[in-house]
Amino acid sequence: MATTVTGTARFAGKRVVVVGGARGIGGAIAGRFSAEGARVSILDRLVDEGSRQARLIDGHFHEVDLIDPTDTEAVAGEAIRTLGGVDILVNSAGILRLGPLLEVTVADWNTIFSINARAMLTTMQVAARSMIAGGSGGKMINVASMAAKKGGANEGAYAASKAAVIALTRVAALEWGEFGITANSLCPGYVLTEMGAETRTDEDVKKWSGYSPLGRLGETGDVAGVAAFLASTDADYLTGQAINVTGGMVMH
Ligand SMILES: NC(=O)c1ccc[n+]([C@@H]2O[C@H](COP(=O)([O-])OP(=O)(O)OC[C@H]3O[C@@H](n4cnc5c(N)ncnc54)[C@H](O)[C@@H]3O)[C@@H](O)[C@H]2O)c1
Repeated sequence: MATTVTGTARFAGKRVVVVGGARGIGGAIAGRFSAEGARVSILDRLVDEGSRQARLIDGHFHEVDLIDPTDTEAVAGEAIRTLGGVDILVNSAGILRLGPLLEVTVADWNTIFSINARAMLTTMQVAARSMIAGGSGGKMINVASMAAKKGGANEGAYAASKAAVIALTRVAALEWGEFGITANSLCPGYVLTEMGAETRTDEDVKKWSGYSPLGRLGETGDVAGVAAFLASTDADYLTGQAINVTGGMVMH
């Protein structure tokens, strides 16, 4: 069941940057903000999908490879300049590599941490500088995972990188609160996207659906709706939190 949009354009006039917005959860978040009146820039390495999604939502697309810190900083700056500033930053890009702890290599660890955590720090720094200079505060929403809270066999480096996302977000909330910036992370459960699709079986879907009291997996719209809430004025007094969007698979 996708989240439906009702009411007025909550984000009219707002400038939103969605990192990893070409598809999946980030794509749904970009679509949700656009549907509620925002101007949206998508950053992603997938040029075809990112350009298509940007056209669909009448937004902008900027190609970036988050593994490269210099590229990430430059492209984030370019996206913010194109919008004339940034009010809402969403970091949804991420990669998953599965494997037992005994087989995690330093190269895998570094790649996962570079994309899932270090690149997030870079886009947050660029956005925070702009938000602080703008003087009107801002909202940051970083996509972590339930893996950060409950672990997950074969998800060693991934789960650790997502725990880093939660910690980084809390530090941002502490350091930038005085500038009116809130920072929260989202911890999705199991959402049907391209991520993990290559190894997913019907049995996995059935098993994981059973872990939710709601009896189903998540949809991208489920996460987008909570992202929109966190970016709205209804969440002005909410910062430093790691919100589960797991259909009750995780309750702490
Ligand atoms: N799908 C799930 O079950 C699930 C669960 C918990 C958390 N998450 C998190 O949600 C976020 C979105 O994942 P998704 O499920 O939509 O997967 P997805 O693969 O569809 O989306 C990830 C996006 O990140 C982009 N990206 C990855 N590496 C990049 C790089 N080096 N440079 C630029 N862009 C890059 C991809 O191109 C893609 O558009 C991720 O951070 C993921 O870890 C997903």
